Formats: sequence, structure tokens, C-alpha cells
Amino acid sequence: MEPVSLRFKKSNKFMENIKNEVAFFNELVAEIEKKDKLHSKKINGNISYIKEHFPAQLDELLGLVKAYFDNLGLDSVRVASDYLKMIKDMRTEGLYFYKHGKYRCDNQYIANEYVYSKPEIMSYYMNALLVSQVMWKHHFNIFMYFQSHLKTLFKSKSKLSILDIGPGHGFFSYLVKKEFPDYEKIDIVDISDTSLEMTKKIIGFDDEKINYTKKDIFDYDDSNKYDFIVLGEVLEHLDEPKQILIKLSKLLKPSGLLWITTPTNSPALDHVYLFKTKEEVLLLISESGLVTVDSCNYFAEDVDEQTALKNKITNLVGLFCKNI
Ligand SMILES: C[S@@+](CC[C@H](N)C(=O)[O-])C[C@H]1O[C@@H](n2cnc3c(N)ncnc32)[C@H](O)[C@@H]1O
Repeated sequence: MEPVSLRFKKSNKFMENIKNEVAFFNELVAEIEKKDKLHSKKINGNISYIKEHFPAQLDELLGLVKAYFDNLGLDSVRVASDYLKMIKDMRTEGLYFYKHGKYRCDNQYIANEYVYSKPEIMSYYMNALLVSQVMWKHHFNIFMYFQSHLKTLFKSKSKLSILDIGPGHGFFSYLVKKEFPDYEKIDIVDISDTSLEMTKKIIGFDDEKINYTKKDIFDYDDSNKYDFIVLGEVLEHLDEPKQILIKLSKLLKPSGLLWITTPTNSPALDHVYLFKTKEEVLLLISESGLVTVDSCNYFAEDVDEQTALKNKITNLVGLFCKNI
């Protein structure tokens, strides 16, 4: 057993880390408030909710976020500025969406030309998206829903083989890894080097069971079969989301499960496929030969469901599905 002095030292270090993360988070929020009062009002409400309902989980994910920015040498002023650039983009895309009833970016090739292939955009955009994972209530709620359902859905199974496509922040794989430490492997596939680098820096340290592959998922070998596949916020980036679902159904083991998240009515620089309702997402799942096992959804604004639907408020849908 570990000597008490060592455990004490470790817990001191743990407390020190949490203090640093909280300080970084507070600085970030203060910096956002200085530059954008309106937006800060919105995120302060979100943050209070997250702190009240999931304090320990917030500290944990904040640890990953802070370590990532430390690794890049970015301070809270720079991160706040990156985040607010994305908010500005979202307002511009939102204006177009509410005027024309569609996303401005017509297809995935345009998204590639104007976003993915532009390092000057990708660098602030990816940092901003990472921040949103710990500041937006609907993002946080979906992680918590995911985590709480993992144990019941995979009851006795611990040696899971996992495929995570386009993981970005990697939080879903991080949570699976935590719930099932004896997992067999996590294969991570992304079409973008920049994105893979981000995932590696956030969850990839010291783990020989995580494999990274730069590939278009459509070119991925079908002879690989998985217990669990994660597809977080990818569908809305594709021209034909049904095709990826058909591909993933081939990569599932007979008893395998697929976790999907995708937002409805969510104008952004690189969103091309518009889901108008949760029902449209569920319909696409069944049209692709899959059956939904359990689902959730979280609106991005604090309004009742009727108002949210009427005003086309972003709704983040999450679901577990399997082959029929
Ligand atoms: C918005 S990020 C998703 C981040 C994270 N999974 C989440 O839930 O927020 C979408 C990711 O999908 C990747 N991607 C898009 N099309 C892909 C494809 N055909 N094959 C593999 N990765 C793809 C992108 O490079 C990007 O990293």
C-alpha cells in the first residue's frame, strides 16, 4: 500500500491542479465578459447550471482542457479571443439561416475549401469548440447522459473494442476509457491531421491501446468489427449522412452499439446538412437499417420546448442505435 505521505502529496498536487484549472476558467470567463457582455450573460447561466449539477465532472474535463491549452502555450486572453471569433461566425451564419431557412455552406467541398483547409480558421475554430464543451449546458448534458448510459448498455462487457470517428476533443472516448479501463482498443479515425493532433494531445498520452488513423471513414476497411462506435457531431458536416450510417452498420459487431450526436437548426461555418427536427434524425437512423435503443436531446437556450421549436433553437440530439 502507498505510504500516507505519498498519498497526501498526491492529493495536494490534485488540489493544486484543480485550483489552477478553476483560476484559468475564471480568467477565461472574465475575459469573455470584458469583450462581449451579451454573450457572457448567456454562458454565465450555463456555467452556473453545470457547476451546480456536475461540479466534479466539470473539474475533470476542465483539467483536460487546461492541459491542452498549456501544451500549446495559449493563455486565457488568447483562448477567449479565439472563442469570441467563433461566436461572431455563428452570429453571421445565424443571420443567413434565419433569413433563408438553410445553411450558407452548400456542401462539404465548400466547407473543405473555406474552413478545413484554412489553418488560420481551423486554429481558432478548434480551440473555440473545445471551450464550448465545458461552457455550454447542452454539450455538458450530453456528456453526462452518455456517461450514465454506458454502464447499463454494456452491462457485463468490459473488453470493448471501440471506433471513434472525428473525435476532436475526444471526451466520448475519454469517458468510455474511464468506465471500462480494461477496454481492448480504441481506433480513432479522422480525415484531418489537425483534428487528430488535438485528440492525441487531449486523451492520447501514455496509452498503447489507442490507435490513430488519418483516413476518410468511407475508405476504412469493413473487415474491422467493433462493440462500440462513436460518431459525435459529424453527420451535419456531410452531404449524404445516410451513407456514413450504412458504412458504420457494416463496422458493428452483431451486438454492437453506435452512439451518434448531431444538432438540429445549428448554423455554423462548416455545417452543411440541415436537420430541422429530432424526428428527422431518428427517421434517417431507421432508413439506414438501424434501430434506436435510447435517445436524448438538449436545447441550446433556456426556453420551453414549444418556444424552442417555434424559434428554431439548436437542439443537440444524442442516441444509441444498433443493427436491426
Ligand atoms: C465537429 S468535429 C466533431 C468533434 C467531436 N466528435 C464532437 O462530438 O464534438 C467533426 C470531425 O469529423 C471529421 N470528419 C469529417 N468527415 C470525415 C470523414 N469522412 N472521415 C473521417 N473523419 C471525418 C472532421 O475532420 C472533424 O474532426
